[in-house]
Amino acid sequence: MANNIVKAWDRTAKKYFDEVVSPFAEGVDNPIFWYIGKKIDFSKRKSAIDIGAGIGNLLPFLSKEFKEVVAIDISPKMIEAAKTKTEGLDNISFYVRDATDLAEFYDRFDVAVAVNSILLPNTISIEKMLSEINNVLKEGGIFIGIFPSMDALLYRALLEHEKAVEEGGSEEDALKKAAESIGAENCNFIFGTVKYPDMVQKNYYRFELLYRLWKAGFKNIRLRKVFYPWEVYEEKELMEFKNKPKLWDWFVFAEKTGISITEKQEEKIEIIKEKDKNETD
Ligand SMILES: C[S@@+](CC[C@H](N)C(=O)[O-])C[C@H]1O[C@@H](n2cnc3c(N)ncnc32)[C@H](O)[C@@H]1O
Repeated sequence: MANNIVKAWDRTAKKYFDEVVSPFAEGVDNPIFWYIGKKIDFSKRKSAIDIGAGIGNLLPFLSKEFKEVVAIDISPKMIEAAKTKTEGLDNISFYVRDATDLAEFYDRFDVAVAVNSILLPNTISIEKMLSEINNVLKEGGIFIGIFPSMDALLYRALLEHEKAVEEGGSEEDALKKAAESIGAENCNFIFGTVKYPDMVQKNYYRFELLYRLWKAGFKNIRLRKVFYPWEVYEEKELMEFKNKPKLWDWFVFAEKTGISITEKQEEKIEIIKEKDKNETD
């Protein structure tokens, strides 16, 4: 893991809510609480892992809902802050770890959580992190995740474009304003990355997230939106859209299948072979 990424997260640990639009910010209706509270039955409340736990926003809740909780993060400063936040909660263990290698935790957890922590801007790391999440779960274990949305960024551009046209601007001018509003020159729309001053981060399209989770070995994948009230954004001009549907991150709920992508591919090849055989018969 590049040292500069760890350093950037270390710096963010000191002023977390100033820098991050978080599903744990005041006023956000974060589905994670009721999903864990209502959808995870008691047989699956033994162990949970928070992957990229950050300053520990979710840990007090996990500590209450599960017998044993493990928190991992690549940033030592984040882990320090999380320990401070959870002082006195004695069922949480902390580890400074890179989520691209979680071999020491394989097959251990009923539930794995990753809230806006799978952000590395390259496919190999993303695929590795998602398959490591699958690997740390027990058979039938549940993954609950939140992922930044690339679709929401494009929706924001749509709103800015619409506003410019409604104000009488030309199509060309409206497109320029839309692009400027989302910092389009710093975005890679094919891969879904956004360049910030100290790091490049991954955002996800809906179709992509479904595909990547399937590829990592999950089944029964369900996606919904975590909406952010317009008030949570630093850019106060966004309040102009307060009567429009809100921006969002993706909320994911999925089950471990225990079938790897290689096995899936082999299964598919078998089906194709079977089909060919029937066609030639
Ligand atoms: C936006 S913060 C989210 C923190 C926390 N999940 C929350 O929502 O409050 C992203 C976190 O992921 C951690 N992170 C990023 N890449 C990681 C990796 N490869 N392995 C482990 N943690 C990582 C960062 O250090 C940071 O704490």
